[in-house]
Amino acid sequence: MLAAMSNETTPVRKAVMPVAGLGTRFLPTTRSVPKILIPILNVPVIEYAVREVVNSGITDIAIVMSRGMEEVVGYFGERRELVDILEERGRTELAAMQRDIASLARIETIYQDEPRGLGHAVLMARDFVASEPFVVVLPDDVIWSDVPATRQLIDVRTAQGGGSVIAALEVPDDVVSSKGIIDGEEISDGVFSVSGMVEKPALEDAPSNLSIIGRYVLEPAVFDYLEEEHTGAGGEIQLTDAIEATIGRLPVHACRFTGHHADTGNPGGMLEAALYEAGKDEGLRELVRAAISEWE
Ligand code: UTP
Repeated sequence: MLAAMSNETTPVRKAVMPVAGLGTRFLPTTRSVPKILIPILNVPVIEYAVREVVNSGITDIAIVMSRGMEEVVGYFGERRELVDILEERGRTELAAMQRDIASLARIETIYQDEPRGLGHAVLMARDFVASEPFVVVLPDDVIWSDVPATRQLIDVRTAQGGGSVIAALEVPDDVVSSKGIIDGEEISDGVFSVSGMVEKPALEDAPSNLSIIGRYVLEPAVFDYLEEEHTGAGGEIQLTDAIEATIGRLPVHACRFTGHHADTGNPGGMLEAALYEAGKDEGLRELVRAAISEWE
């Protein structure tokens, strides 16, 4: 049966963060540390994602993980003993920061027992989502922006009368064949009506240079397709296939968000993210400049 489409005015309150992948590009660290607990300088990637969605109006978050990754949700726990010690030592600001981390949102754990693809990970959150519009955030994709990227997508959904919205970014030709690429028509500045999506196309077959980035606002109607467990590219259950299956029945848009993006799911992207953060601090800028000057 077709899940009912929520109205464009239905507030988007729930976020699903799938993090159950193997993280092979971060081996050997991911033998024991979940990829999203690796920090950009001193703040783990997952905290960026949680803050972004909270600043976008989300109150409830489900983190879809594999067994053994519980510390990801544990990170957002109270840590009362630590806070007491910090206070005893007069580190009140640091103590307040710890309390803030523990009060950001309601965060729950959902398990995906086998890594059968992003679509399958989202399917595991079906009961959590129930019948509301929701966002999917891939925390590896870190986005710095004045208006949080998730909020930009929710605003496009409202303006377009509901349906799904996918985050998009123009990428250079040489990376097109490693990305999910959007086929669509720009209907207003940075907003595209989506007619299709293709996973990792050869450059000559790519319909555009518009790459899918890990932020989606979705209708619960995507579960109709995910429940059928179709395997797509790479033998995995693909979220993009489920979104594509709703085209024609529901609006599907892409939003070329404004902001700075880094893919922290690989060491190079993580380095880029660390340099971006370092650029905000004069002391760290000097440190980076001095380190680079040693290269030649
Ligand atoms: P990636 O393609 O980045 O895969 O998944 P990965 O396993 O995390 O990393 P590599 O490629 O082996 O280095 C995109 C997102 O989808 C999640 C991942 O955790 C990541 O957030 N995912 C992927 C799942 O939750 N379950 C899956 O079965 C597959």
